[in-house]
Amino acid sequence: MLKSPDPHVFIVFGGTGDLMRRKLLPALHSLARQGEIGKRFKVLAVARDEMTDSAYRDWALKALEEFACEVAGSDENSTWCNSCLHYQTIGKADQAAFEAVRDRIVALEKEADIPENRIFYLALPPSVFPGTISGLGEVGLNLSEGWTRLVVEKPFGRDLHSAHELNSLLHTYYDEKQVYRIDHYLGKETVQNLLVFRFANPIFENLWNRVHISSVQISVGETVGVGSRAGYYDRAGALRDMVQNHLSQLLTLIAMEAPSAFSADAIRDEKVKVLQSVAPIKSNGVVFAQYADGNVGGEAVPGYLQEDGVAPNSSTETFVALRLEIANWRWQGVPFYLRTGKRLKKRLTQVVINFKKPPVSLFEPFDDCNINANRLALTLQPDEGFDLGFEVKRPGQGMSLKTESLKFQYADEFSQLPDGYETLLHDVMTSDQTLFVRADEVESSWRLYEPLLSGSVGVTNYEAGTWGPQEADRLLAQNGDWWAKL
Ligand SMILES: NC(=O)c1ccc[n+]([C@@H]2O[C@H](COP(=O)([O-])OP(=O)(O)OC[C@H]3O[C@@H](n4cnc5c(N)ncnc54)[C@H](OP(=O)(O)O)[C@@H]3O)[C@@H](O)[C@H]2O)c1
Repeated sequence: MLKSPDPHVFIVFGGTGDLMRRKLLPALHSLARQGEIGKRFKVLAVARDEMTDSAYRDWALKALEEFACEVAGSDENSTWCNSCLHYQTIGKADQAAFEAVRDRIVALEKEADIPENRIFYLALPPSVFPGTISGLGEVGLNLSEGWTRLVVEKPFGRDLHSAHELNSLLHTYYDEKQVYRIDHYLGKETVQNLLVFRFANPIFENLWNRVHISSVQISVGETVGVGSRAGYYDRAGALRDMVQNHLSQLLTLIAMEAPSAFSADAIRDEKVKVLQSVAPIKSNGVVFAQYADGNVGGEAVPGYLQEDGVAPNSSTETFVALRLEIANWRWQGVPFYLRTGKRLKKRLTQVVINFKKPPVSLFEPFDDCNINANRLALTLQPDEGFDLGFEVKRPGQGMSLKTESLKFQYADEFSQLPDGYETLLHDVMTSDQTLFVRADEVESSWRLYEPLLSGSVGVTNYEAGTWGPQEADRLLAQNGDWWAKL
């Protein structure tokens, strides 16, 4: 049965930012509407601006009107904002300011008869994480008589060293059991369903290994360019922004062993083992590229170097393709191909499992009997579902084969998939860390990609609106493979 959250105060540092406006407020409001959060609940938004509670509620109301997915009446929205939302400035972010935050939390707890249960959510620019973590810890906001949890948004560092420093700072004040590192990909229903697909369906799991699978492809395509994130993105690039976190999460869920139990630590133990088993990435197993101008969805778009906020001589990669080898008993010899990029042909997240062909073709004497290998495509967004390609006999004389597909689409069975943030916030409130990234997971992932961060990988170009450069095709051709047609 679903656990219900205890009464608590939910404190958002960065409570006036884009994430709060577009994701957190609508998710909190939706949980409240579903009755998941009771009346003894308060939100305290913290940022540097001076603002009254009333001004903050007006801002939040506009955000809900724009972004809440269920359209509640505006009276209902405003009642919720007036009863739940509060604002506190962090001013100069010195000790006195953190003490003022502490006093405000205590006052809200008294007012609403809430025990000392607190969630601190860091929806902040990464440069502000360290000062905020130590600021909270130094005024004793890391502990309480009830429970205290800390939610950290990505990025978790920008390399192994900074990730390790961030983890060390977190562990100075907080136990790992209190820390929830959010990778919003893990909140997606279809990503969580990978575990159900594999471990509730033995027909697939029994084939899920090097004996039956020839290769695995994970593609995360975006059609958007850098937009307003150029300042951040130009210093990050696709490897840091997408591969180290989201694609690596998908990789671990596809490749992990069955956990000993459906518990946060058992699952995360298995995910870490996958990352630790990946062999060092070879220099001929990586492609970095940057988009040139082109045409996406019928619209002409500029190249990366022409985007506002991008350095004119930037060599930041907006596309990455990788070939990974997992050196363990299950996967030795099976290439895992990962690719992601901006301004690609389609917005699509898909995992393709290519099974092996039959060892002998019984149908070889017939010219048109080229047997295609079975292929399972798991589409995680959009048009969520599965598609299993298999061979059938074409009716008529002779033994001519045709590939058909067995399909399942979420939209045919389920009306609407919940937003990932709603799932993740509910999990923080009920202390379920399964979908959050553990410290050793973050560091194992950085350890794997660290050698690619030195600038030694050349950056080629691709036309916007394509699936990337030809080098990405050659990466697979080296093994006689090719990217699935998406
Ligand atoms: N936006 C998204 O969809 C999204 C998605 C995934 C992850 N994230 C992550 O979420 C975090 C926040 O992103 P965002 O897009 O919301 O950024 P944003 O729009 O720039 O907002 C940043 C927030 O932090 C506040 N802030 C800045 N310095 C502060 C300080 N010293 N103390 C307290 N508050 C401070 C800002 O308000 P003041 O300037 O008034 O202080 C503002 O409320 C980032 O780590 C980002 O990578 C965002």
